[in-house]
Amino acid sequence: MTEATRIGGYHSAHEALCDHRLIQSMYNECDVLMDRVLLTLHGEAHAHRRAIEWRLFRRDFARYYEREVYPATLAQTLAPYLASGRMDLPEFGFRVNINLSSDIAGIDRAEDSESETSALVAYTRKFSEGATLFHSTRDKDVVREEVANALQAFKQQFFEPSKARRESLLRRIAAGELAEESAPRDILSVLLANRDEQDLDDDMILREVAFFMQAGSHSSANALTHCFHEIIQWCLTHPEDRARLTTDDAFLQRCVHESLRLHPASAVAWRTASEPFTLADGTHIPAGGTVIIDLMSANLEPELFGEDATSFNPHREIAHRIPPFGLTFGIGIHTCFGRDIAGGLGQTKDAAQAPHIGTLSNLLKSLLAHHARPDPEAPPIADTATERPNWGSYPLLIGAPAKDDYP
Ligand code: HEM
Repeated sequence: MTEATRIGGYHSAHEALCDHRLIQSMYNECDVLMDRVLLTLHGEAHAHRRAIEWRLFRRDFARYYEREVYPATLAQTLAPYLASGRMDLPEFGFRVNINLSSDIAGIDRAEDSESETSALVAYTRKFSEGATLFHSTRDKDVVREEVANALQAFKQQFFEPSKARRESLLRRIAAGELAEESAPRDILSVLLANRDEQDLDDDMILREVAFFMQAGSHSSANALTHCFHEIIQWCLTHPEDRARLTTDDAFLQRCVHESLRLHPASAVAWRTASEPFTLADGTHIPAGGTVIIDLMSANLEPELFGEDATSFNPHREIAHRIPPFGLTFGIGIHTCFGRDIAGGLGQTKDAAQAPHIGTLSNLLKSLLAHHARPDPEAPPIADTATERPNWGSYPLLIGAPAKDDYP
């Protein structure tokens, strides 16, 4: 077997992620969920699927979602935690983002109840374990079986009713009884409307919807916890910045971007070469060879992010035209659909418009405004079910602090 080629540094990693001769190869371990979903497709099939789905993610969607939908979702999700005075941060992150995932994927919540949300969170967490099976430390066959069971239960409880409602709407639109604009703006509707043209069967549509459920929640929940941790650590040594976090949105967003740079969802992206070729830096890649793209080394490049690139510093100067979060949302062929929604767009040219700070900054703003702080009695615990350096549990106290439990 030929040895894998490792590609490090920002510019080479960027080039590799944009190269059509490199085929996605990190998400093939759990076919029951990931077979021919957007992230594992390649070539024309990927381009066609991406083109029809991308229409949903026009920039006005991120703005609309942040302004119109998110505040109510956040307030509703936060209420029981405020009442109890505590929360587990990764669990909260999943719970609050599950509504975003469901809206995007096209899953109706008929009851809008806490137990319904809990069921969706449980299914989606299992889908995430399937999607990231490559890095799992558990018995992979056991995880595959759990994912298959979760998928069937999700299908019955949520997918079938959501699909039936959309099929009925699409039939009425086709018959001229309803206007085109009555079609819901979500992945499930787009796939049903294009199923013949894209040659999609029911199982394929179910997998794509389940994939979007996890894509919209999993990385954001992990990113939220990393970012909270970084901010708390920063404030211990830079107390002068604490007040700014709740009053200066642009500064908070810089903290989020800085944390995203240091904590990509996966430190590496894997690809397989469809033909031999050579990168601009001289690295030769043989046909069929495995390529490991080192996103972490790209995000830590001192020439772009400074000599202290390995540490969290929201005041850092970043090289011109380099995104402050580095390659954390990928780039090129598989660029993340959720980049603007999660990370925000910042200030537009129109100074009269409020800056778009993204769901992560909005969540942190709200948590900090409610005095969220680490629970001194319950230290955070790393997630041991994955090789990815994530937090499994991060207990917080929330609400007016007692004098001595604020770090
Ligand atoms: C902090 C949050 C997030 C991070 C760090 C993140 C990261 C990534 C990365 C690195 C990729 C590319 C993987 C590769 O090239 O191998 C990706 C793809 C993707 N992400 Fe995200 N993501 C986040 C949030 C979201 C959200 C909120 C959505 C909402 C829908 C989303 C949807 C997707 C989709 C659909 C793809 C596949 C694109 C394709 O294959 O063409 N992500 N994400």
